[in-house]
Amino acid sequence: MNEIHLPAHAGSKVPRWHFTMMRDSARNAAIEGAIASCNVKGKIVVEIGTGAGLAAMLFARYGARRVFSCEMDERIADAARDIIRANELQDRITVISKSSREAIRDGDLPSTPDIIFTETLDAGVVGEGYETIAEDIRQIAGPTTVVMPDRVQQFGFLCTDVQAFEKNSVFNQCGFDLSGFNLFAERSYFPVSQAQHDPVYLSPTFVFRNYDYLNPSSLKPVKHHIIAHSSGLCHGMTSYFNAHFGKFLVTSRGRRSHWLAAFHPLQEAMPVESGRHYALRGDKTGLIRLLSI
Ligand SMILES: C[S@@+](CC[C@H](N)C(=O)[O-])C[C@H]1O[C@@H](n2cnc3c(N)ncnc32)[C@H](O)[C@@H]1O
Repeated sequence: MNEIHLPAHAGSKVPRWHFTMMRDSARNAAIEGAIASCNVKGKIVVEIGTGAGLAAMLFARYGARRVFSCEMDERIADAARDIIRANELQDRITVISKSSREAIRDGDLPSTPDIIFTETLDAGVVGEGYETIAEDIRQIAGPTTVVMPDRVQQFGFLCTDVQAFEKNSVFNQCGFDLSGFNLFAERSYFPVSQAQHDPVYLSPTFVFRNYDYLNPSSLKPVKHHIIAHSSGLCHGMTSYFNAHFGKFLVTSRGRRSHWLAAFHPLQEAMPVESGRHYALRGDKTGLIRLLSI
């Protein structure tokens, strides 16, 4: 019987979202539109987070002179190199099998490139290492470097969402108090399916945070003054984001996006009253606190 020869990394487990992400045609079209419209001809590009190499190959397609792309997962970096070779773009794209932090430390990434691109956003923006990546971008960006995305806006609303809350807490079961297990509850946020959740809005939607990779104060604590527009038991905040790549928008909003919504639980559900004022505080991890004022 003939032996089947597969690459060394075949069959390795990578998170399933890689596939849904690469098949998210709205995301891909916005990224391609942004790259096509920003005159990358002859430019030096640094990418943080190669994945399968899609964005790197788009930069090459639109004429970038060199793309240096780092990928911290070695198996994914190996696969990206094979894919880039299969697409005959290996002369213009270098995949560095390191985290951006290591690649900068080892001098593998050029400083002051023309463009720095990253699409390392999770449902709640910061969970894939936003803070480190932003520090790394600031380390190599020059005064004329264009960063893509140029800003990410995160929106939130207070909500009743029993289903989401119950995914993260336990109390009495079979007559036993299991609440001690709540020490493992997620404090900041976790993804929730927009198809399976129907949160009841208790407040208008507000801008929770504006992120700018070049601005370190993007991660400072935020405080919002919120007036509830409905009464109900508040379990937390649901958030989604818009990432701006110039005039092109990548959004986690809506059921067609591969991103899920983020649910930021309150430590304890809190009754809110229509017309009453609340202070909502948020830290850089997405953890929220709600106080009546
Ligand atoms: C969301 S995927 C995007 C892939 C590709 N840029 C695209 O748009 O199709 C992000 C990738 O970045 C990698 N990654 C995340 N943080 C990184 C870092 N600091 N340095 C290098 N790679 C990173 C992850 O392993 C993942 O493969």
